[in-house]
Amino acid sequence: MGFTMGLNLILLVVMVATNILSLYHLSSTVQSPRPPLPAPVPDNLIRQLNTIRATINHLTRHSPSSAATAKKPASAVPQDLILHSQIGSIVSSCHNHPDLLHKYMNYTPFSTCPFDPDLQETLILNGCHPLPRRRCFSKTPSKQPSSLPLTPFPTSLPDSGVIWNKYSCKSFTCLLQNNPTGFDLNAQRSSLLKYTCELDLPISQFMQLAKSANSAIRLGIDIGGGTGTFAAVMKKSYNVTMLTTTMNVNAPYNEAVALRGLVPLHVPLQQRFPVFDGTMDLVRCGRAVNRWIPVPVLEFMLYDVDRVLRAGGYLWVDRFFSKAVDLEKVYGPLIGKLGYKKVKWAVANKTDPSGLKHGEVYLTGLLQKPTSKT
Ligand SMILES: *[C@@H]1O[C@H](CO)[C@@H](O)[C@H](O)[C@H]1NC(C)=O
Ligand SMILES: *[C@@H]1O[C@H](CO)[C@@H](O)[C@H](O)[C@H]1NC(C)=O
Repeated sequence: MGFTMGLNLILLVVMVATNILSLYHLSSTVQSPRPPLPAPVPDNLIRQLNTIRATINHLTRHSPSSAATAKKPASAVPQDLILHSQIGSIVSSCHNHPDLLHKYMNYTPFSTCPFDPDLQETLILNGCHPLPRRRCFSKTPSKQPSSLPLTPFPTSLPDSGVIWNKYSCKSFTCLLQNNPTGFDLNAQRSSLLKYTCELDLPISQFMQLAKSANSAIRLGIDIGGGTGTFAAVMKKSYNVTMLTTTMNVNAPYNEAVALRGLVPLHVPLQQRFPVFDGTMDLVRCGRAVNRWIPVPVLEFMLYDVDRVLRAGGYLWVDRFFSKAVDLEKVYGPLIGKLGYKKVKWAVANKTDPSGLKHGEVYLTGLLQKPTSKT
């Protein structure tokens, strides 16, 4: 028992350390992406080690054996959390947010789960992913839609497929009026098909490029794909299966994707793609991927894209924005390190007020993974 505990602890240290490192990077560069990866300075290391030590203490204190012997303090760890941490792998940063995690796991097993989508979203966005499983019944909409759309472009999405409690809007019609960029499916489709400037890459042109390169496109991931309109066009027009990663930030994006008969992946940007190496023909980064993502996080993401792409597969960067100087000094070289063939590389000034103020540019790039690495 003691031996197993020891082993578990060592494993924990390793996992926690990796997560703390990534979290540290996450928190350190949110404001301004810095030029190439800074070498870690001793101060950071010390801080990380202290955090690791604190985490170990925390976990040891809350281990089942000590919990059984000692009188439980008021803030006792929920039993189901202890149970889950013994059977589930701890690969997340959940333990960096004990308060939120305890709140999340504080429920009555075998009954109805607390309705806490915001808590879940917060934990996930903070790197606690995958969330621990719970043994309770999750709340679902009380009446299911009488019929589900058979096309990814229905005239309307059924409101009864969503629990609206936590949103100010209570219907998709309201979302369409208040958040047209997010919920006007037809406008989104048009923007994916049009060519009005060099930053545009119409889907038909992409498919043509892939075809002339003898590269079959059947399967892919759309990162930060909102309501899934890219996947919808790919499915409807080309029989291509796209997974859409999307978070429910202020609107039920996951439900919207699912109601269109597409696959929503509820995973944050810093999450390893839940697919195997070399299995995807295409990974597309929409506008959720931009300069607000810390450089190290973006770098890990690009290499994870490389991991999941098959040889000859495509990375499509759609209107990535950053400061012009950063594109030249940071992001251009970062993407260049992948060693991909530049099928398209278009840069243009971002001409909205914020773009002009910060000297920002857009990049639209189509890059092909080489078939063999030297
Ligand atoms: C998609 O698949 C269906 C059924 O297999 C087929 O009838 C249709 O022609 C295909 N469409 C395209 C654009 O390949
Ligand atoms: C883009 O903006 C820069 C300065 O912000 C300016 O020098 C350049 O001429 C602009 N390019 C175009 C094509 O407008």
